[in-house]
Amino acid sequence: MSASLYEPVRHLIPPIEWPAFAPDIEAILRLKRERNAVILAHNYQTPEIYHCVADITGDSLALAREAMTTDADIIVMAGVHFMAETAKLMNPDKTVLIPDLEAGCSLAESITPADVRLMRAKYPGVPVVAYVNTSVAVKAEADICCTSGNALKVVESLGVPRVIMLPDEYLAQNIARQTKVEIIAWAGHCEVHQRFTAAEVAGLRADHPGIIVLAHPECPPEVVAAADYAGSTAEMAGFVARERPARVVLLTECSMADNITAANPATDFVRPCNLCPHMKRITLANIRTALEQNRHEVRIDPALAVRARDAVARMLAVR
Ligand code: 13P
Ligand code: SF4
Repeated sequence: MSASLYEPVRHLIPPIEWPAFAPDIEAILRLKRERNAVILAHNYQTPEIYHCVADITGDSLALAREAMTTDADIIVMAGVHFMAETAKLMNPDKTVLIPDLEAGCSLAESITPADVRLMRAKYPGVPVVAYVNTSVAVKAEADICCTSGNALKVVESLGVPRVIMLPDEYLAQNIARQTKVEIIAWAGHCEVHQRFTAAEVAGLRADHPGIIVLAHPECPPEVVAAADYAGSTAEMAGFVARERPARVVLLTECSMADNITAANPATDFVRPCNLCPHMKRITLANIRTALEQNRHEVRIDPALAVRARDAVARMLAVR
């Protein structure tokens, strides 16, 4: 096994543990070549997936865009189910695999298509912006999708005074603070980000004078207000690379800091962080099985696919 594979995870995986990872990594790299497959990995994947087997890494927006540029026959989504569905929507002729069907998302679970129809009935004529963290059936009811990386641009691109933004209440409230557009929210929350508190931020600042606090916009508004910067996972990584803070805390999922430490050796990453149990369902072992046994293949109801794809395509057209 080439030493270059171990290098980016050297500070995270002790040499004695590396032999437990290496056989799966070797097998996955071979299977990718044999099957003309690519692995798309979200920023919350564990470092051995992120650094050792992924072809493309990024936030939800980057993964949605990159899914469209690959000429591979098979896309393995090392992420959660809605990300795999988005990749399939944009690549109906490719095989898209999700290594664990249970890799869900509390936001996607928080709303149904019937809920969206009720919101439309309550606010006639108000366009619906659906976070990508939703099922295909919910996307099919929306006018346009957004991610945390483009939500403000998407809302303002519609040129209307009011929008319905669902299902993340905190993302909606955080965007509402940055725009004149009135935002009607749904009461969904991310089970990972809703746990951060403003008191925790105050405690971090007291314990680590000068620390820079970055927050994902799925955090409650009082947490975002207490932070120095809020952005998508890719935007937080970009902030650290650009600003090179001496000490930083990322109020988001734990693997995020692990994955960017190698590229930012001069920065001291302070925890806490919260684990996403859904992201953590994806492992080297089930990625290997996915490629060996072609499972689990993502299939989308064609009746929903057209409308859901339109909502994602409209989002991708906003620059
Ligand atoms: P990003 O789009 O910022 O990567 O976020 C996805 C997500 O699920 C955050 O919890
Ligand atoms: Fe969903 Fe939150 Fe996990 Fe992201 S971190 S996948 S929003 S539950």
